[in-house]
Amino acid sequence: MSNATLTWYTIIAAFWLAFLTILGVNLVGNTVMYGSPVAEEHEKLEKFGYPIEVVEEAPAEAGTGGTAFVSSLPLVAAASVEEGAAVFKKCGACHTAEAGGANKTGPNLHNIVGDVIGDRNGFKTTDSLKAILGGIWTYELLDDYLDNPKHLAPKGSMSFAGLKKPQDRAALIKFLISNTENPPPIPAAAETPAAPAAAEPAAAPAAPK
Ligand code: HEC
Repeated sequence: MSNATLTWYTIIAAFWLAFLTILGVNLVGNTVMYGSPVAEEHEKLEKFGYPIEVVEEAPAEAGTGGTAFVSSLPLVAAASVEEGAAVFKKCGACHTAEAGGANKTGPNLHNIVGDVIGDRNGFKTTDSLKAILGGIWTYELLDDYLDNPKHLAPKGSMSFAGLKKPQDRAALIKFLISNTENPPPIPAAAETPAAPAAAEPAAAPAAPK
């Protein structure tokens, strides 16, 4: 074999190697990104194959830093009990809220606002829940617990992902207030730094129904 022929073989082999490498990377890449090695299916799928959790955030509410916890308390005073009752449907599989309601998977929640944590009508509460600092369901603790039960009670038994939207938690807290005989006063919106531009003086706390 002459040197010239060898050189040609080398060049052709190099091209093949490059071609196969590109093909391979493409197939692997497509499979990772779209769950399919076939490029044509991408237009149909239009989404990445693996889910990217996006927390819905009220638009243009500045300074919330993406998925960071946003207090719902500034919204509670103006929230509606009816909306809260609708949100409570998510809890209804495990909880009742009316006076004398039964314990289910979770305890009855009548009079929960401002009450002792983990002392519900004979319900067997986990130590993790009882260990929550302060021992009283303040609005702040309720808001935190409902955002993510595992944050305050890492080994608690409430299998619920949490309500990520402050609006939902505010309405739900309003609903729990409406099921509490003597709720503590709702924190004024102005006291909470995350309040959206409090131009007006805090509204007189609406008498809980
Ligand atoms: C899958 C069942 C389930 C769902 C759904 C659920 N919970 Fe619970 N919840 C529990 C259990 C179980 C406990 C007791 C937790 C423990 O002892 O650690 C609990 C505890 C609680 C407590 C503390 C009560 C106490 O003893 O002081 C509150 C408040 C509460 N839940 C509110 C809610 C609200 C509001 C919702 C709906 C947004 C909800 N839960 C959804 C099962 C559930």
